[in-house]
Amino acid sequence: MAKPDLAIIPRHVAIIMDGNGRWANKRGLPRTLGHSKGVEAVRETVRAAGDAGVEYLTLFAFSSENWSRPETEVNDLLGLLRRFIRRDLAELHRENVRIRVIGDREGLKGDILPLLLEAEETTRDNTALTLVIAFNYGSRDEIVRAVKKLAVDVQAGFVQPDEINAGMISSRLDTADIPDPDLIIRTSGEERLSNFLLWQAAYSELLFIPDYWPDFDRNLFFDALKVFASRDRRFGGLTNNPTTAVVG
Ligand code: IPE
Ligand code: IPE
Ligand code: MG
Repeated sequence: MAKPDLAIIPRHVAIIMDGNGRWANKRGLPRTLGHSKGVEAVRETVRAAGDAGVEYLTLFAFSSENWSRPETEVNDLLGLLRRFIRRDLAELHRENVRIRVIGDREGLKGDILPLLLEAEETTRDNTALTLVIAFNYGSRDEIVRAVKKLAVDVQAGFVQPDEINAGMISSRLDTADIPDPDLIIRTSGEERLSNFLLWQAAYSELLFIPDYWPDFDRNLFFDALKVFASRDRRFGGLTNNPTTAVVG
């Protein structure tokens, strides 16, 4: 399917992929099958985002709080991420997709970190969609790590405390060279950010949809782009959206 015919396409879409467990429960299936069906939705969404002309797609894959789930579920989720990278990396690379990973890399055990680094390294010069995978990601943790880096620079005398500005925080976040998300979608009907991109979401449009993540597809993605195109972003000023601007 071609690109949706919309006047405005968000440059960066971020998604809180929620509801895998409830999708499975509703069908009397184990939660892990919800997660594996969710990977299919990831594949379809990555393609739809590229086709639509979105430049950055960030997917919340595993939060720094998700370690508190039962060990078996954590292992299932890590296993799916591993398999996704092993199986899909070559194809994503062929499709010129660049992969970036955000989240804390310290203390990750086993082969997960090397796989994430391989995905970034292999695709670093690609120029189509940038797929940002938020893994072991928590926004407060990211901000704390950024503030620590800034404190080191202050201590070393590179930065004076009264020179500190928003840009100095942004440039020390994991998302340093990634534009802020224009649109954040959360599936499954929950209406919260769950520690996702708190700093970066300052002026993001938020869209909460009832569908569980495994049911998410190209059509729902394009529907979300349509809703985005109808929103009037003002950034604290007056109307900024040419499609809804009132002249006079
Ligand atoms: C999203 O689905 C996947 C992750 C958080 C990793 P959930 O596993 O949170 O599914 P629900 O919210 O329990 O339905
Ligand atoms: C957010 O979903 C994390 C991911 C989608 C990876 P959760 O299911 O963990 O969020 P809460 O616990 O319902 O807020
Ligand atoms: Mg959930």
